[in-house]
Amino acid sequence: MNIFSNKSQKLLDANKLPHHIAFIIDGNGRWAKKKGLPRTVGHSFGVKAVADTVQNCVNLGIKYMSFYAFSTENWNRPQDEVDAIFELLRDYIKQYVGDYENKNIKVMTSGDITKLPKDIYETIEEAKEKTKHCTDFVLNIALNYGGRDEIIRGINQIIKDGVKDVSKESFKTYLYTKNLPDPDLIVRTSGEFRTSNFMPYQAVYSEWAFPKTYWPDFNNKQLIKILLNFQKRDRRFGAIKKEEKK
Ligand code: FPP
Repeated sequence: MNIFSNKSQKLLDANKLPHHIAFIIDGNGRWAKKKGLPRTVGHSFGVKAVADTVQNCVNLGIKYMSFYAFSTENWNRPQDEVDAIFELLRDYIKQYVGDYENKNIKVMTSGDITKLPKDIYETIEEAKEKTKHCTDFVLNIALNYGGRDEIIRGINQIIKDGVKDVSKESFKTYLYTKNLPDPDLIVRTSGEFRTSNFMPYQAVYSEWAFPKTYWPDFNNKQLIKILLNFQKRDRRFGAIKKEEKK
């Protein structure tokens, strides 16, 4: 089935889009360096690319979107860069929350956001509260997120709850993403081929794409190219095709 109008989007099959697409946004610093600009300018253009990508995914009808905005390891960056990232994030949330409410996009986070500066934490909590009734789309921002931390946190909670028997499915309910399907597709920009502690439990059957583009230059054309490639992949989840069984 095809519901898209623009030229390359026309080739997309609306029935074979990822339910959940995740982005490891990488290359903001190198983008800025290449242009002789401070790294923070790269982050600022990176935020613009996040806003555009959210809109592009919404236009395509992709329901769940995750963005790896700040990892548990990113605290090791210079303090002024960390501060700048948080300011950009706060401005982004303030600027877009009304729009997301109108577009029926629920904002949620993965990671321990209580460790973020108080005003940032409060802005995010307000955005979550304002959009908690939204049902068409979910925007999951991974902030102070680390996949190993998430798993250990889940295990500790299980111990606290006195649960004696855990299954693959029940463990999922202890993850930040308990209400999200696993990501079908994870995109890491900038030509780096690492997974960097991103959703290790959820990503076991994710398809990956590693475009060379630095994140601030990521656009709809590249998104469509990645989606077209994704739709050509044969996702078998460890099984074989029906006709090959005999
Ligand atoms: C990766 O580029 C980017 C980051 C670690 C932080 C980016 C986060 C924001 C700009 C906050 C806003 C996010 C949202 C979802 C609104 P890098 O600095 O690692 O690039 P480099 O590898 O080229 O140095």
